[in-house]
This record gives sequence, structure tokens and C-alpha cells, in this order.
Amino acid sequence: MGYGKSVYECVYNKLSEKRKRALYEAKQRKNKLYARSKRAKQIESLLSSTAIQAAKSILSSGNAKLKLEELKKNNLLLQKELKNILKEFGLPDNYIDVQYDCKLCNDQGYIDGKMCTCMKQMLRNEAYNRLNCISALSLSSFETFSLDYYSSEPIGKGLPSPQKRMNDIFRFCKNYADNFSKDSKSLIMQGATGLGKTHLSLSIAKSAIDKGYGVIYISTPNIVSKIEKERFRYNHETSQEETEVLLCECDLLILDDLGTEFSTSFSNATIYNLINSRIMLNKPTIINTNLSMRELEKGYSERLVSRIIGDMIRLEFLGSDVRHQKTLNKIRQSKIHFDN
Ligand SMILES: Nc1ncnc2c1ncn2[C@@H]1O[C@H](COP(=O)(O)OP(=O)(O)OP(=O)(O)O)[C@@H](O)[C@H]1O
Ligand SMILES: [Mg+2]
Ligand SMILES: [Zn+2]
Repeated sequence: MGYGKSVYECVYNKLSEKRKRALYEAKQRKNKLYARSKRAKQIESLLSSTAIQAAKSILSSGNAKLKLEELKKNNLLLQKELKNILKEFGLPDNYIDVQYDCKLCNDQGYIDGKMCTCMKQMLRNEAYNRLNCISALSLSSFETFSLDYYSSEPIGKGLPSPQKRMNDIFRFCKNYADNFSKDSKSLIMQGATGLGKTHLSLSIAKSAIDKGYGVIYISTPNIVSKIEKERFRYNHETSQEETEVLLCECDLLILDDLGTEFSTSFSNATIYNLINSRIMLNKPTIINTNLSMRELEKGYSERLVSRIIGDMIRLEFLGSDVRHQKTLNKIRQSKIHFDN
């Protein structure tokens, strides 16, 4: 797919930086080696002079073939000697070679005029990062999710205790993350504020990212207003088409806080199109919302709700606001600190 100009520029700069760094680091290693072995330095200059001699002998008259054979033999001997020196110092054979990140294109981005897979991946990552609200630091993990915040008392109406429900949800999400694939099912996480919906969906995101999947996590109000701006105003950075393609083609889309966007017919249509397109493409989406099924029916089209009911696994979170409990615990702890 095509990306905005600034995405390409950014990737070209990154590749150029990579090449510069690789050259610089190889030079540093060479200097280190030469400081330890004068002979290694001599060999290096002999090797580069044989290249010049080879070129000269081709141009000169006389028996070029014989001369070239001799140079080649000499060259191999010098290379062997250099390897032995490296071995003596306990260094690998390729110690002074330039070490590019991508061995296919030497960090050029292209091979024979065709774009290398590394550059395709970099473009994709760059475009994702611009859209994503995830930063490495903001990712939650399953390890920091505790069931102690949920009451073990059943809350009536045929519902299990919050702890039992959340234990089931936690295990479901862990299993979902462990077995995540491009055609995993879509999920909708529903429940009151502060119950861990964002926490668990970002834990799934982290696990999928670690496995190399392309994940986009966005808050619904942000993405709706971004698409709206791109649609109705001129935007140099990204185009509506680019944003929509990325949202549709990523391996996992997490649409957080559905229902907190400013509701208009544009926002409703945008959300419906996005969810519908992903369902049609058989790609997993995780939606988080405070809204109940009935509230979703009120706020959105019947089509959207029937899509959600028909194609998404529903996880209904129970309990009392963990965010609030954590704040209370902090206040309590600071009080104890003062009392002592
Ligand atoms: N079970 C848990 N164990 C540890 N921390 C938790 C747990 N549940 C939530 N938290 C923490 O509490 C805070 C609120 O949780 P989170 O943002 O996931 O709630 P939410 O359900 O997405 O709420 P909202 O509907 O307001 O978006 C976060 O800092 C999160 O890391
Ligand atoms: Mg949340
Ligand atoms: Zn490459």
C-alpha cells in the first residue's frame, strides 16, 4: 500500500542512520584491532592494494590471467592470516566487516530496484506508530493483573461473584493472547469504569506485538475525530485512505472507549464501517465500552449491534472500580506513613 510522503522520508532517514552507524561501528572495531595488531593493519592495506593491482593488470598488456591468479592466491593467504589473528584474539571471523541490520539489502531498502522486506516492515511500523496510542511504556501485562480487587461475594440476580467472573475473563484473555492468530475471534469487553478492560486488552496487545503481529490500539473519540479531520480538511501528514487502510489491515485493532465519542451520523457510520469491514475481512477487533447492550442499541444502528451480537465474543466485567480502590490504598498508605 502507499503511505504519506513523510512516512517514506522518515524511513529513508532511519535507513541512512542505520548505514552510518554500521560503518562507524565497523571502523571502531577495526581501530581497536589495529591498536592490538600492527600486522592486521598491514594486511588490510595489502588487501586494498591488491584490488588496485588487479584492475591495473587487466588494463595492462602481457599475461593478465597469470597475474590475476597470483594476486588471488596472495589475497586468500592474506585473508587467512587475518582470520588467524582474529582467532588468536578470540574474535569472530567477521569482526571487522560492516554489520548491517538487514543482510539482504545492507540497509539500502532496495535490492535490484525492488523494495526489500525490511523497508516494507519499517514503513508499516512507522505508519502504525503514528496512528497508535500505544507507547512501549503504556502497555499493561497479565502479570500485573490481580484478582484481589474483585469481591468473592455473589452479587445476586443469578450472577457469579465478581472474582469468579473476572477469573474466567482473565483466563479467557490469557488463553486468547497465547493462541492469538490473524483469524482469532473478535471480542467486546463491557463493564463499568475501572474494571480492567483497557488493562486486559493492552495485555493482549503486548503479547500479540511480542509475537510480531501488527496491533493498533486507539480510543474511539480520537480516531473518529482524526478521520473526520482528514475527510473534511486538508491534511499533509496522513490521508483518510491511509488511516482507513491501516485500521482495516492491521492484525488486531483495539477500539477503546466506544460510546465516549461525540455522537453524530458521521461518527456512527465511521465506526460501523470500520467494524463491519474487519468482520468481512475476518480480522479480529477488540471493543471496550461502558455501554450495556441496551445502551448500544439506543446509541448505534441496529446493524452495528447485530454485528456485535453475531460476530463478537462478549466479556461482561463485574466488580467495583479498581482505579478508585488503588487511589484509596495509596491514601491509606501515606496516612500510615504519617502516623508513624
Ligand atoms: N485487576 C487489576 N489488577 C491490577 N490493576 C488493575 C486491575 N484492573 C484495573 N487495574 C488498573 O486500574 C486502572 C483502571 O483500569 P482500566 O483502565 O483497565 O479500566 P477500564 O475498565 O478500562 O475503565 P474505563 O471504562 O474507565 O476505561 C488501570 O491503571 C489498571 O492498570
Ligand atoms: Mg478503559
Ligand atoms: Zn533489507
